Amino acid sequence: MKAFLWSSCFVSLCLSFAFAGTAQPERKSFPDAICVQIAHSISSASEVFYPGDPLYDKGIYHYSAWSSQKSKCVVEAGSPQDVGKILFILGRTKTPFAVKGGGHATNPGFSSSPGVLISMYRFSEITYHAASNTADIGVGLICDDVYATLDPLGVTVLGGRVTGLGIAGFTLGGGYSWKTNEYGLGVDNVVAFQLVQPNGRIVTVTKTSDPELFFGLTGGFNNFGVVTRLTLRTFPQGQVWGGSITLDGSTMPAVKAATTEFQASTDPKGGLIASYGYVTAAEQVVVSLLIFYDAPTPPPGLFDAFLAIPALQSDISTRSYLSLVQSQDVNSTSGLRIMFEAVPIISFTPELSDILLNETIFWGQKLASKSAVALGVSSEIFLPSIYSHNAAKTAFPPVRNIPFQPFVLGYAWDSAEFDADFIRAIHESAAYIHKAAIALGQTALRNAPVYPNYAAIGTPLKDMYGANLPALRALRRRVDPAGVMALTGGWKF
Ligand SMILES: Cc1cc2nc3c(=O)[nH]c(=O)nc-3n(C[C@H](O)[C@H](O)[C@H](O)COP(=O)(O)OP(=O)(O)OC[C@H]3O[C@@H](n4cnc5c(N)ncnc54)[C@H](O)[C@@H]3O)c2cc1C
Ligand SMILES: *[C@@H]1O[C@H](CO)[C@@H](O)[C@H](O)[C@H]1NC(C)=O
Ligand SMILES: *[C@@H]1O[C@H](CO)[C@@H](O)[C@H](O)[C@H]1NC(C)=O
Repeated sequence: MKAFLWSSCFVSLCLSFAFAGTAQPERKSFPDAICVQIAHSISSASEVFYPGDPLYDKGIYHYSAWSSQKSKCVVEAGSPQDVGKILFILGRTKTPFAVKGGGHATNPGFSSSPGVLISMYRFSEITYHAASNTADIGVGLICDDVYATLDPLGVTVLGGRVTGLGIAGFTLGGGYSWKTNEYGLGVDNVVAFQLVQPNGRIVTVTKTSDPELFFGLTGGFNNFGVVTRLTLRTFPQGQVWGGSITLDGSTMPAVKAATTEFQASTDPKGGLIASYGYVTAAEQVVVSLLIFYDAPTPPPGLFDAFLAIPALQSDISTRSYLSLVQSQDVNSTSGLRIMFEAVPIISFTPELSDILLNETIFWGQKLASKSAVALGVSSEIFLPSIYSHNAAKTAFPPVRNIPFQPFVLGYAWDSAEFDADFIRAIHESAAYIHKAAIALGQTALRNAPVYPNYAAIGTPLKDMYGANLPALRALRRRVDPAGVMALTGGWKF
C-alpha cells in the first residue's frame, strides 16, 4: 500500500499529491536489433538510450503513469534529417513506435510504445522574429520554457494554462490558452509547421504551400508525420493578475453562484477554471479555482464574488505570466494513473453544476474500493466568441458556430488492475453529463465536438472531427500511403 498525503489542491488538471512509494529497479536488457540499426544510421545530433539509463527513464516518463510504457529504446532525435531516417527504418520493419513531446497525453499508446520511443526533447530552440511577430519554437519544449524565454521580450504565444505540458501536443490538438478569449485557439495562431513526412521528406507547411496539409495539422496530431518546428504568432505580454485558490467543499453554493455570474462577463482578458472533485481517502469534496486577468490589476467587480469566499489557500497576485501558469504544482502526480475525458458544454448553470458535483461524488464513492484516489471535473469558462478569431477551416474544431466549452473530467487511481473499471466509468459519466446538459436546454450540444486533447481512449473519431473526417482520411492516404504513422498511437485517421 502506498501512503498518501493530500496537499493543497485538487483539480482534474491539478493533482498534487505527495507520495511515499517504492521505486521499481530497471532491469538491464540486450539492445533490440531495430534500436541498434537506428543508432548506426543517425548522426551525432541524435542518440539512443536503453533501459537502465536515466535518459531512457526520462524518455518514457509521462504525466500519467497510465500512459507510460516500457519501450525497447528511447531515441532522442536531434535533427529533421535523423527523424526521416528513423521513420524510414521503423516503416520498413513495421516497428511500433511513439512520438513524444511534453508527455502529457493521458491515454496509453498516444506518446508511448512497447517498440521505439522517439523523444523530441532536443528540438528546443526558440527564435523570435520581432518584425513579423512570430516565433519559431522547437517541439520538444514545454510551455513553461517557451514563456520563460519570451516573457523578458515582452511577448508570448498561445500555450497551456498550467505547468508542464508540451507546446507540441497542445498546438497539434487544438490548444485552449489563457489568451484564447483574445486570440482564439493554438491552431488558429500557427503560421507554419516544419514537418518530416512519413517518406522522410522535410517540408515547411503553410496555408499557401499546401492548404490541405496545413488544415490537417491544425488538430491532426501525428497522422501526417513528425512536426519538428512550429512557427507561432506572438502577442504582447506584460504582467498579469491571478493565481490559485483552494476552498472547502462547503463553499460550493457560493462557487456556483460566482461562476454563473462570471459567465455573464464579456471581458476577454478574464479567465477562470473552476474545479471540484471528490478525494476518496478524505471522503470530501474540494474546490479549486484558477483565476486569470491579462493585466496587472482586474477591473473592480469581476472576481469579487470569488475573493469573498473564505479560502483554505490563496496565492492571487500581480505576477509574470509564467508565474501564474506555475501557481499550482501539478507536476507531482507520483505514479498515479490519470485519465481525462471531455464533454462539450455551453453554459455552466447552477443546475448543471449540481449534476457535475453529484457525478464526482457518485463515481468517487463507487470506485473507492477500486483504488480511486480522486475524481474531479473542471469548468473552463471562455467567451462564446472564441471560435470567431479564424475564418479558415481547421481539423479541430470541425464547427465554429457552436460556442462550446472544452469541459474536462479527470479521474486518478492507483492500481492497473482497475483500468477497465475507470474507462467504463468515465465514459458512462461523460455520456450522462452530455445528455443532462441537452435535457437542460443546451440542445446545440448534439452537434458540438469533443476536444481530442482531453478525450478518453475509445471516443469515436466522428465525435471529435465531425464532418472533417472524410477530408482528413483522404489527406492521410495522400501523405502517408504506406501507413507508417499507423505504427504509432493516437487518434488515427
Ligand atoms: C495537467 C494538464 C493540463 C492541461 N492543460 C491544458 C490546457 O490548458 N489547454 C489545453 O488545450 N490542453 C491542456 N491539456 C491537454 C494537453 O493539451 C494535451 O495533453 C497535449 O496533447 C499535451 O501535449 P504534450 O506534447 O505534452 O503531449 P505528448 O503526450 O507528448 O503528445 C500528445 C500527442 O501529440 C503527438 N505529438 C507530440 N509531439 C509531436 C510532434 N512533434 N509531431 C507529431 N506529433 C506529436 C504525440 O504523438 C501524441 O499523440 C492539459 C493536460 C494535462 C495533463
Ligand atoms: C514542472 O516541471 C517542469 C520540468 O519538467 C519544470 O520546468 C516546471 O518548473 C515545473 N513546475 C513547477 C510548478 O514546479
Ligand atoms: C447522481 O448520479 C447518478 C449517476 O449518474 C444518478 O444515477 C443519480 O440519479 C444522480 N442523483 C441526483 C440527485 O442527481
